[in-house]
Amino acid sequence: MPAEGHILALDQGTTSTRAIIFRTPDLAPVASAQQEFAQAYPNSGWVEHEAEDLWDTSLAVMREALAKAGLAAGDIAGIGIANQRETTLVWDRRTGRPIHRAIVWQDRRTAATCAALREAGHASAVAASTGLLIDPYFSATKIAWILDAVPGARDAAERGELAFGTVDAFLLWRMTEGRVHATDATNAARTMLFDIRAGAWDPAMCALFRVPMAMLPEVRDCAAEFGTTGVLGAPIPVRGIAGDQQAATVGQACFEPGMVKSTYGTGCFALLNTGETPVASSHRLLTTIAYQLGGRRTYALEGAIFVAGAAVQWLRDGLGIIRDAAESGELAARSDPANRLYLVPAFVGLGVPHWDAEARGTIHGLTRASGRADFARAALESVGYQTRDLVEAMRADMGGGGGAVLRVDGGMVASDWTMQFLADVLGAPVDRPIIRETTALGAGYLAGLQAGLCPEPAEFATRWQLDRRFTPSMPDGTRDAAYAGWRRAVQRTLSDPG
Ligand code: G3P
Repeated sequence: MPAEGHILALDQGTTSTRAIIFRTPDLAPVASAQQEFAQAYPNSGWVEHEAEDLWDTSLAVMREALAKAGLAAGDIAGIGIANQRETTLVWDRRTGRPIHRAIVWQDRRTAATCAALREAGHASAVAASTGLLIDPYFSATKIAWILDAVPGARDAAERGELAFGTVDAFLLWRMTEGRVHATDATNAARTMLFDIRAGAWDPAMCALFRVPMAMLPEVRDCAAEFGTTGVLGAPIPVRGIAGDQQAATVGQACFEPGMVKSTYGTGCFALLNTGETPVASSHRLLTTIAYQLGGRRTYALEGAIFVAGAAVQWLRDGLGIIRDAAESGELAARSDPANRLYLVPAFVGLGVPHWDAEARGTIHGLTRASGRADFARAALESVGYQTRDLVEAMRADMGGGGGAVLRVDGGMVASDWTMQFLADVLGAPVDRPIIRETTALGAGYLAGLQAGLCPEPAEFATRWQLDRRFTPSMPDGTRDAAYAGWRRAVQRTLSDPG
């Protein structure tokens, strides 16, 4: 039964790692800590993380959050992990040391391999089993790349000496000092090796992508016993794991079919709950697992956009036209609507619905009058337009149903200007909750549920609280014209406009 206690949620994301301690049963945040870490770009389109950075920052933020909360490890009833998905690690089972830097989800180095597999006609078999499109985004081709690039790795993997994991599995291995090699169903669903209907690794996919099955972790529910860690000074059970977008779906309490959430972090990921039956997309969305509880899988349609908050980071770090993210909305508001610029931020290719790994970013509509404010506005608007692209695909797949209201979270939703534009361009209400750390909240909830300290999903859903609803106010004609301009800009950005 729900009771008082504390849960530690770890959110290992693409650019930073954070820990939040929640008090149960209400999951009120008690203390948090966050650390950024370095990104490596060793080649065009390549993105890597130092595995030790992922581990060191995880340990550091968990310790800091405990200290800030004035709690000891023994006060924590469970750890919940949410993580950047797809990012690929391969390590030596004996030493626990990765044999290569983590290859990040954004990395496009296997684009040619994926194109060859599509041309060879494998797309429908891959979609039928995994729900995914053949794209470098997912882990499978990244694993094979590491095995081919590191001398001796493929043979060692065949002999069972190497382990593969997404970031959750790697952190769990380190937390349990090599005793547990496991992941959850949502992370497994992002590898392109997992049969999402059967809920098991698919030998045919492993053969196709040349990944030895001896490397793969055991797959468990999102709320489960994942082993005990002693790294914080006293034994704490790890009781929840989910990919960060799925954790946010849980944190947003999108438990009913038709509910949709959209998270604005580095990228933007929208998940539409489709219930216990997976829906195959006709509009190039992904079919994926939203969560698995008590052995039962709930599915989602997902739209993935690779650059959202990263466009604001580019305004700050690339162009130097804002000092911090908060400035972007104020600056955008000063732009003259007559100077409409379109930024298509295809910095690492385009995701839904184009899946164009070779596309690169473009700006359209520059005139002598274009200035800083117009760039800021174009960057923020690009997030709204891309969300509309994927919501359109969801509406089409669901025959118009689903996604009537968008629940939003993540860093960018702090900008009222951006959220109003989002509602305007979607022509649908956008709901911003009071708690915006929904990824950590979801991970905390999963661990709290397993610990018996949090209520069942239906009860948890009644506690979701609205901060503000953004209602569309843009005239239809303006919306349609602006969106048509976006579509033209995207068309000119595609590597092969057809
Ligand atoms: O699929 C990638 C996604 O999980 C990354 O999320 O929040 O780190 O941008 P985020």
